[in-house]
Amino acid sequence: MKLSTAELRRLERQGFLILPDLFSEAEADALAARLPALFADGHPGNIVERASGAVRTAMGLHLRDDLYARLVRDPRLIAPARQIRPEPLYVQQVKVNVKAAFSGEVWQWHYDFATHHAEDGVPRPLALNLHVFLDDVTDVNGPLYFIPGSHAYGSHETRLDTETTSYPLWVVDEPLVRDLADAHGIVAATGGKGTVLVFVDTLVHGSPVNMSPWDRAIFSLIVNPVSNAYRETNRPDHKHHRDLTPIEPLTDGGRLGTRAA
Ligand code: SIN
Ligand code: MN
Repeated sequence: MKLSTAELRRLERQGFLILPDLFSEAEADALAARLPALFADGHPGNIVERASGAVRTAMGLHLRDDLYARLVRDPRLIAPARQIRPEPLYVQQVKVNVKAAFSGEVWQWHYDFATHHAEDGVPRPLALNLHVFLDDVTDVNGPLYFIPGSHAYGSHETRLDTETTSYPLWVVDEPLVRDLADAHGIVAATGGKGTVLVFVDTLVHGSPVNMSPWDRAIFSLIVNPVSNAYRETNRPDHKHHRDLTPIEPLTDGGRLGTRAA
C-alpha cells in the first residue's frame, strides 16, 4: 500500500485522507468480534460514557489482544505512515472509540497535538492518526467531522475540558471553530467498514452524539516519530505508550480476518 502523489498532496492541503476498502468487511468484523470480551475485562484502559456506562474508548488494545497486536504492524497502515514521516515511528496510542447506538457521546472540537503537547510534552505536531472503520460510518451514526485545511494554522488556543465527557480533552472553543468552518467548511468522514482515515496532529476535528440505532466503532492508531517522543509521563501508559521501539511492519502479508486467533 503506497499513497499516490495526488494523495500526498491532498493530505498536505486538507490535513486528512479518506481511503475506502483498505481492509475487508471480514477483517473489520473479526476485529469488532474481539471487542465484547475486551470491554468486559476490567482493564483501566476501558473508559465508559458518563451517562450510559457503555464503553466510550478502549485503549492499549495491542497489548491486550493478538489481532490488535497484528493490526498496529499492518503494512496498510504503517507503509503510508512511513511514507509521510520517513523515520522510525513508535506506537503512541491504540484504541477503539465506540460511540454506541443511541448513547454514544460527543467528541468536542479539538486537535490531537494540543493534548499530546500539554499532557505528554511532545515537542512537535508530527504524530499521525490512522483510523480503521469497524462499522459502516454514515452521516447519522456519529462520524468524525474534519475542518479541511485547519491543520495549516498550526497550534490554536485550547482549553482543558474535564466537564463535557468522561475523557479530559484539550478543546478548541466555538468562536475559533466558527471562523475556521466559515472559511473552510466541514467534511463528515464517512465510509464503509474497512475504510481508513489518515490525519495530521493539528487538524481540527470532532464528532457528534450517536442518536441512531447503529453502533459506530472506529479503531485508532497514533504513531509518532521516535525523535519527537514524549518528554513527560503524566498520563498512564495506555494513553501514551512509553515503549519507543520502532514499529516493524508485518512481512507475512496475513489478512487479519483469515488468521486463527
Ligand atoms: C471519535 O472517535 O469520534 C473521535 C476520534 C478522534 O478524536 O480521534
Ligand atoms: Mn482526536
